[in-house]
Amino acid sequence: MSNDNKKNKPLRSTAWFGKPDKDGFLHRSWTKASGHPHDQFDGRPVIGICNTFSDLTSCNSHFRTLAEYVKRGVYEAGGFPLEFPVMSLGEAQLRPTAMLFRNLASMDVEESIRGNPIDGVVLLMGCDKTTPSLMMGAASCNLPTIGLSGGPMLNGKFRGEDIGSGTGVWMMSEMVRAGQMTQEEFIEAESCMNRSHGHCMTMGTASTMASMVEALGMALPENAAIPAVDGRRNRLAQLTGRRIVQMVKDNLTMDKIMTRKAFENAIKVNAAIGGSTNAVVHLLAMAGRMGVPLTLEDWDKLASQLPCLLNLQPSGKYLMEDFFYAGGLPALMKEISTELHLDALTVNGKTLGDNIKDAPCYNRDVITPLATPFKPAAGIAVLKGNLAPDGAVIKPSASSPHLLKHRGRAVVFESTEHFRERIEDDHLDIDENCVMVLKNCGPVGYPGMAEVGNMALPKKVLKKGITDMVRISDARMSGTAYGTVVLHVSPEASIGGPLALVKDGDMVELDVPARRLHLDVSDEELARRKAAWQPPQKPARGYVKLYVEHVQQAHLGADLDFLVGGSGAEVPRESH
Ligand code: FES
Repeated sequence: MSNDNKKNKPLRSTAWFGKPDKDGFLHRSWTKASGHPHDQFDGRPVIGICNTFSDLTSCNSHFRTLAEYVKRGVYEAGGFPLEFPVMSLGEAQLRPTAMLFRNLASMDVEESIRGNPIDGVVLLMGCDKTTPSLMMGAASCNLPTIGLSGGPMLNGKFRGEDIGSGTGVWMMSEMVRAGQMTQEEFIEAESCMNRSHGHCMTMGTASTMASMVEALGMALPENAAIPAVDGRRNRLAQLTGRRIVQMVKDNLTMDKIMTRKAFENAIKVNAAIGGSTNAVVHLLAMAGRMGVPLTLEDWDKLASQLPCLLNLQPSGKYLMEDFFYAGGLPALMKEISTELHLDALTVNGKTLGDNIKDAPCYNRDVITPLATPFKPAAGIAVLKGNLAPDGAVIKPSASSPHLLKHRGRAVVFESTEHFRERIEDDHLDIDENCVMVLKNCGPVGYPGMAEVGNMALPKKVLKKGITDMVRISDARMSGTAYGTVVLHVSPEASIGGPLALVKDGDMVELDVPARRLHLDVSDEELARRKAAWQPPQKPARGYVKLYVEHVQQAHLGADLDFLVGGSGAEVPRESH
C-alpha cells in the first residue's frame, strides 16, 4: 500500500478539478456554489478536514471552531481546505456501545477520503472512539495525514475538590450505594464534573488515544494535553492546517510515520502515562490497517516492566489540565527517552528525538522522574491460561496490589442484565474473596465489546469498606475506571471460549506476576460443559449482522476481518 516516494507528484485532486472537459466542469461548478473563486482550482493541495462534530458527541462540540482554525492554516500555506463530516461516536450516549460502531465509522472515513478530491487529510478527533476510527480509516488510504485532538475539558471542580470525568462517577455512585453521599449531592456533581468543551480530562481512553497519536508521531507536539478551551488549542489547529499542506508537497504519507518503531514508542508511552486498556485493541487495529506486525504479547514484552510516571486519575491524583501545565507529553517522553526510538519520523518532518530534546518539565509531582516513578512496572500485563487461551489484559497500575495474586470462588453473571439483577440481592452468596465473572460482553456477545468489565461491587461488600474485588470478563473497561479487573478475555464466551463454561462455585486463580489466569476445573469436566454449550442467537440483519459475522477477537484488535490492511488512495473511475 506504500505510496510513491517521489515528491511533487501530480496531486490526486487534479483528476477532479484539473480536467478541462464536462467532468471538470461538474466537479468545479458544484464546488464553486459555496463561493470558491476559480483560482482555488489551480492545482493547489486540497485538504480534507475530517470532522466528527456532533451535538450527540458533546466531547467534540467545539470542532466547528477548531475546523475554522485549521482552514486558516491551510489557506495561509496555499492549500484549499474542504471540510467533511463523518460518523461521530459519542461515548456518553451511543448504545449498545460506541465500540460497536468504531469499524463502521472507519469505513465511512476510508471511503469518504478515497472517493473525494482530497490530497491530504486533517483528522479532528476527541471522544474515545473518534480517534481510532479516524486513524484506522485514514490508514487504509495512506495519504499524507495529520491528527488534531480536540483537547481535554478543564478540571472538574466539586465543593472545592478536583473531580475527574468518569473516575468521579464510578467513585461517587459507589458512595451513594454505600450511603456516604446523598442523591442531591450526586445530581449537583453532574454539572461540576464536566464543565467545558473537550473530552474526559482523566487519563481515560480519549486522553490516552490523544497521547497515542502524538507518541506515534501523527500529531504536532503538545497535541495530547492542551485543554480544549485554551487559546493554544486553536493555535495548534492553525499550525496543523499549515503543516498538512507541506506534508502533501513532501508526499509524507502515513506509512512513513506509523512504522513498527512508532507503535513500539506508543506502547511504551502508554505504560508511562498509565494509559487505558482500550489502547490495546485500538493500536492493534491501527497496526493491522498499516500492515505493521504487532501482537497482544508485544504489549507485555515491550512495556509491562516500564513505570508509570504520570500521577493522573484514575491511577493517581491529577487531571489533564495539570499535565499540560507540567509540560505535557513532550516532557513525559523526554523523561523516558532512553526507552524510545528517537529516530522515528513525525508529522512535522522532524524526529521524535528532535521534538522532545528540549521539553521542559514544570511539576515533578505530576510528571515524576524516571528514577523515582509514580508507580513501578505499570504497563499492561497480558495473561494466559485455560480461561484465556488467546490472552486477556489487566492494568496493574489501576489494581489493588494485594489482589494481583488471588484464588477465589467464582460468582458468575451470564450478561450485564443478569449482573444488575443479582448484584443488588442481599441474599447473593458473595464476599470480597470471590471472583466476579461476567460473560457474553465481548465483540460478538454484546455485540461490540462494551465497557462493562468494571462491575460495581455488591452493597454488602462496600458496606464493609472494601473497594476492590477481582473481576473477569470478555468486556472492556472505561479508561477512567480502576480496580483489579481482567478484561478482553479471548476467545470470548459468545463464541464458546472457556469463559462460557465457568459456573458458580468454580475456583479461579489470578496470578499477574506469573501472567496466569486459570480455571481450576478438570479438562474432562470442561469438555462435558463444552458439549452442552449452546451458542446465542445471532442478529438477523443490518450492520450488526455484518459486524458479528466478521469481527475479530479482542487479541487481534476487534477489527472486521475484511478491513484489515488498506487499499491505498488510487483515484476511482469517473462518476458521470
Ligand atoms: Fe467523550 Fe469521555 S465521554 S471522552
